[in-house]
Amino acid sequence: MLQVSDVTKSFGGLTAVDGVSFSVDHGEIVGLIGPNGAGKTTLFNTISGIYKPDHGEIRFNDQDITGMRTSAICHAGLVRTFQIVRTFDESTVFENVLTGATFGSGETRSRDAAEQQATEVLEFLGLDQQRDQHTSELPIAQRKLVELARGVACDPDLLMIDEMGAGLTPAELDQLVETIERIRSERDISVLWIEHVMEAILGSTDRILVLHKGSLIARGTPEQIKSDDEVIEAYLGDAV
Ligand SMILES: Nc1ncnc2c1ncn2[C@@H]1O[C@H](COP(=O)(O)OP(=O)(O)OP(=O)(O)O)[C@@H](O)[C@H]1O
Ligand SMILES: [Mg+2]
Repeated sequence: MLQVSDVTKSFGGLTAVDGVSFSVDHGEIVGLIGPNGAGKTTLFNTISGIYKPDHGEIRFNDQDITGMRTSAICHAGLVRTFQIVRTFDESTVFENVLTGATFGSGETRSRDAAEQQATEVLEFLGLDQQRDQHTSELPIAQRKLVELARGVACDPDLLMIDEMGAGLTPAELDQLVETIERIRSERDISVLWIEHVMEAILGSTDRILVLHKGSLIARGTPEQIKSDDEVIEAYLGDAV
């Protein structure tokens, strides 16, 4: 579904993403982990069209999307959320999600169809009680959920999530893992998920990619990653 080939992105003298190659298959939940500053968000920004890579190719559903506009990439079915939440805070929860439903993947939907889709997604993610609240009134964890809902309402083939777990209680974390699993199983959306909270990522992904100083230093199942010496040294440390 997604094929990233030898992608490099530098800022001046700093190579934030350095010759990264990987793929995500239809139906997978893939984790992307690595220390602060490893280049994870830069990689997302490069895949989603915010930056053009200096080198390399990004293909999605057999289409070359390298350097395409973010809106065109979204229409093609590749949607992302942001590490620093970017809800539309002058708007209600419903209007935020309606934006995704209207302008998401595929053709622009009619108002009726988009409203139906937004309503259904709010129920799916348990946000119907907050429907008419402004997102500025919500705590951060719920604003993140609104952003996830806006992404799901786009009806993408692949949803890239840039950190959702920070600051959640253990119960909220369990719920997040269950939600992401339901996004895959009930909506047929594949997921590429950046996360620092190890319990979440180790327990919910099919495969994990480990980025360190811009390069992928390991990839494998959660079990393989947990016992990889280089990963433990670079990142996991005492967490496992
Ligand atoms: N727009 C930019 N201009 C200059 N340097 C940047 C820019 N964006 C990121 N960087 C640098 O690129 C490196 C990778 O940053 P990035 O945000 O991709 O890391 P990350 O893995 O997402 O980290 P974190 O886990 O803290 O979110 C860092 O050294 C960062 O300072
Ligand atoms: Mg980041």
